[in-house]
Amino acid sequence: MMNRSLPIIEPFRIKSVEPLTISNRDEREKYLKRAKNNLFQLKSSEVMIDLLTDSGTGAMSSAQWGAVMLGDESYAGSPSFSRFEEAVRTATGIEHVVPTHQGRAAEHMLLQTLVSPGHVVPNNTHFDTTRANVEAAGGVAMDLPCQESADSQVPYPFKGNMDLDGLERALERHAGGVPLVMMTVTNNAGGGQPASLENMRAVRALCDRASVPLYLDACRFAENAFLVRERTADLAGRDVRSVAREIFDLAEGCTMSAKKDGLANIGGFLAVRDADLARELRQRLVVTEGFPTYGGLSGRDLEAVAQGLKEVLSEDYLTYRLASVRYMVQRLAAAGVPVVQPTGGHAVFLDAGRFLGHVSRSQYPGQALALELYLEGGIRSCEIGSVMLGRTDPDTGEELPAKHELVRLALPRRTYTQSHMDYVIEIICRVWKRRESVPGVEIASAPTVLRHFHAGFRRVSESPSLGS
Ligand code: F0G
Repeated sequence: MMNRSLPIIEPFRIKSVEPLTISNRDEREKYLKRAKNNLFQLKSSEVMIDLLTDSGTGAMSSAQWGAVMLGDESYAGSPSFSRFEEAVRTATGIEHVVPTHQGRAAEHMLLQTLVSPGHVVPNNTHFDTTRANVEAAGGVAMDLPCQESADSQVPYPFKGNMDLDGLERALERHAGGVPLVMMTVTNNAGGGQPASLENMRAVRALCDRASVPLYLDACRFAENAFLVRERTADLAGRDVRSVAREIFDLAEGCTMSAKKDGLANIGGFLAVRDADLARELRQRLVVTEGFPTYGGLSGRDLEAVAQGLKEVLSEDYLTYRLASVRYMVQRLAAAGVPVVQPTGGHAVFLDAGRFLGHVSRSQYPGQALALELYLEGGIRSCEIGSVMLGRTDPDTGEELPAKHELVRLALPRRTYTQSHMDYVIEIICRVWKRRESVPGVEIASAPTVLRHFHAGFRRVSESPSLGS
């Protein structure tokens, strides 16, 4: 186990490098103006450190690139699929494996199959594609995060837990109308926080009592297993693989985006224990994704995921991965920067509402902070606040803010080094020191759906006074 007082020590050396384009503030102001102050509209060459997402942005290993050359592109019966299937079965212990091109395709198939109009689907917190897929099937997506997750500063170790009382009530109230319960591990929308083994056991017991199957959204299952072991006294010394398996053993199946803990740039799957359900899913698969031995993937993609699933459960890799996030959180917290506590698995979340206390919620502190981090140092982050999650009240037409105003700095896997992280910390601290100078933003133009991707913004003033 890595000594916490030592530097991180990335457990790899670099064989192939990709240049970063270094820019200055004048250039970034020009780029941002063209992008209408929307970071999604920047070209990647205009970004120095890209922390927009950890999805599909990681670096593959030499073993994965080697496996890519073994990809067999046969339409049916490819040995690449057999290796993929075997790797998924080994990691999850789940028998029937259905490949998909990414996580949301797996969600689409599962939810189209299980959910009917009027059904309710409880989840600790739905990721936005999961929510959209529940709703597309006519269901109601119910978020039941534990109470402790409401305060960004409470150091509760398992803020990804499900609210058990809430789940019990939901299962009683909607008896007969809940086709499945989902647990998202780690809880991305809730700060990348883990769910404990104990909580998942209790969720499973409630599901059993109501005869409802439990499915995992397993995108970050390895990070969750590692954090569970680290934060549970009686799991000390256990192999992280066996902790991950124990968690999968509680579920009837899972959806997975291999762009996260599959360590691949594309890919996903559904794994289920029920043979009849698997048959039905495969029939859907042929219509939308492809033949059951490739889903929406090429043989080489299947190989990359198969190898990635082995590497992601390496103790050295996970120790480094979680140490990187912890390092950033600790350094930022020590400088007084309001950062979501405790450390999550894949990202650092800044509490922009507290960071920019002088910017009112109607002027989107998360968006304002994300723009400032880009202008100051070329860092691309992602607002997870009222721009992304704000809703319009259907009765009054008033805008309802999100629960939290956050900025997510997601760390791509094996991509940046500790010195890149030191640079990011330095930029955040510089903005923190002159935070009163950061202006709020207004929405200049916005489409009606998924506005965060396409909206244009205006920075309201270059020097608002503190407390205004
Ligand atoms: N579930 C969770 C918890 C996710 O974080 C994501 C993707 C998905 C499902 C969908 O997977 O992208 O392969 O279709 N999250 C990315 C992010 C986009 O930036 O957090 P996908």
